[in-house]
Amino acid sequence: CGIVGYVGGQCALDVVLAGLKRLEYRGYDSAGVAVLADGGLAAAKKAGKLANLEKELSDRPLPSGPTGIGHTRWATHGGPTDANAHPHLDNAGRVAVVHNGIIENFARLRAELTDRGHELASETDTEVVSHLLSEAFSSCGDLAESMRQVCRLLEGAFTLVAVHADEPDVVVGARRNSPLVVGVGDGESFLASDVAAFIAHTRDAIELGQDQVVELRRDGVTVTDFDGAPAEVRAYHVDWDASAAEKGGYDYFMLKEIAEQPKAVADTLLGRIDAAGTLSLDEVRIPASVLREVDKVVIVACGTAYHAGMIAKYAIEHWTRIPCETELASEFRYRDPILDQRTLVIAISQSGETMDTLMALRHAREQGARVLAICNTNGSTIPRESDAVLYTHAGPEVAVASTKAFLTQLVACYLVALYLGQVRGTKWGDEIRSVVRELSAIATQVDEVLETMEPVRELARSLADKNTVLFLGRHVGYPVALEGALKLKELAYMHAEGFAAGELKHGPIALIERDLPVVVVVPSPRGRSVIHDKIVSNIQEIRARGARTIVIAERGDTAVRPYADHLIEIPPTPVLLQPLVATVPLQVFACELATARGNEVDQPRNLAKSVTVE
Ligand code: G6P
Repeated sequence: CGIVGYVGGQCALDVVLAGLKRLEYRGYDSAGVAVLADGGLAAAKKAGKLANLEKELSDRPLPSGPTGIGHTRWATHGGPTDANAHPHLDNAGRVAVVHNGIIENFARLRAELTDRGHELASETDTEVVSHLLSEAFSSCGDLAESMRQVCRLLEGAFTLVAVHADEPDVVVGARRNSPLVVGVGDGESFLASDVAAFIAHTRDAIELGQDQVVELRRDGVTVTDFDGAPAEVRAYHVDWDASAAEKGGYDYFMLKEIAEQPKAVADTLLGRIDAAGTLSLDEVRIPASVLREVDKVVIVACGTAYHAGMIAKYAIEHWTRIPCETELASEFRYRDPILDQRTLVIAISQSGETMDTLMALRHAREQGARVLAICNTNGSTIPRESDAVLYTHAGPEVAVASTKAFLTQLVACYLVALYLGQVRGTKWGDEIRSVVRELSAIATQVDEVLETMEPVRELARSLADKNTVLFLGRHVGYPVALEGALKLKELAYMHAEGFAAGELKHGPIALIERDLPVVVVVPSPRGRSVIHDKIVSNIQEIRARGARTIVIAERGDTAVRPYADHLIEIPPTPVLLQPLVATVPLQVFACELATARGNEVDQPRNLAKSVTVE
């Protein structure tokens, strides 16, 4: 969910709505606002996207006032209805609360409130907070103190923001787990889940830590812990501006983000490889002596980031000979994994907030493992809680389906793998040096792919009425196939599945029927030519059964041509780096299919970009 709070000289409702617009990527099941004006509190909320709320506000405007809060929701407790939308008010309509996360003991708190005569109107866990705040405020008369008292009663992961009509110049926030950032302006203060919500007004930010409460006034902010003791906070200046989070002439953020990939890749490499081809990853503050002792690498991540991790496994094992497992973060911690001080855990996350990944890394650290985060969001929770972080420099990614963040995650994974190889000195020294050189130039190849995408778009449009598309790959092409299928599910809502091509004969081949589109990612014919030849056979097997083959292959790969109904050529790269160029056509394919099917590209149904619940 996305949260915004504002107090200052501007019309709070305008500031809050503009902020919510920037946070819609965090969830768009419903949206709501509350403002303090004329001694009272006025609120509006609506199921569906922010546009529904905006329409409601133009039909029934709220009074203008200097203090307000807002919320855009990804539903957890309670369906996406008007009643379940935030903010939630107390019975007197004096307190309004918005919330991100889950309050685990809400059922007990709700029963206690009902016993004390409160009437709760929704099925949400959030509503209990507005009632509890209202009770606390009646006895202490101070919203920040009320928030501290209430937080001490709550269990689970929650970030809360509240206003009270009796304190019309105050917004109060509380943070446990999911992020909350303060924006410090001139005579105005902001509070949001992400700086993007207030970047148009100020670039001076303060990051709240775990279990902190902030009181926001026009002339400043006060931060304490849940017991009221003054708290340490980190102030920082945001180094990108509002234009980085705007569409800049593209129809969708996703198209812009696909186009930005060459730059994102180059930025992620910048300063990390010197002229002599030596990697210098100063951010990896784990001493070389410790890295030399590592005897196992475990990668944890979710969604697209997990696919980056799957590719990293091939690179790490090949270049370093250290055993490496890649696991879905949500599964990892619950199967009692075997970890110790010599295990290096790599947590990959664009947002740095994904709760499944965060919980996996906490579990790993409890077992004594070192954790290296690969993350795109400066100062977010996952890097803060890791031993070291290698940031990807993709810039803000707004479209829910990840593109440029994925490519930069791959670059970061290669850097880590090569760095481990360099530090430990393996027999692949020469190969590592040559791959480092090729990696430095890879942005140009990504750019080349982007320039040849028109036939891919045309092909996608011609498949708009299909129900199923399959994806096949081998070696690093297998995770690419999974990523291609995921993109298509997310964006086109089509049945799409990725398989290891070698596994085809063990079951999935039964799915092949006449004219079924099958995308095949073909590895380079150079290098590991055995895998190449095997996949060419797989293509023949499916074609013989009527499949329509869409083949992604290296330019100049003549062996595969006779079996490709549609050929998408990509530039030659070292075998392990191929995902950096092979994924791009699959992103374009999914995006175009979504458009052709009339789907909303940037905000696919039911999804959210950062999922801060388990
Ligand atoms: C959500 C998004 C996915 C993303 C995954 C992991 O499910 O919809 O696109 O890959 O979270 O996100 P992270 O921020 O941890 O990379």
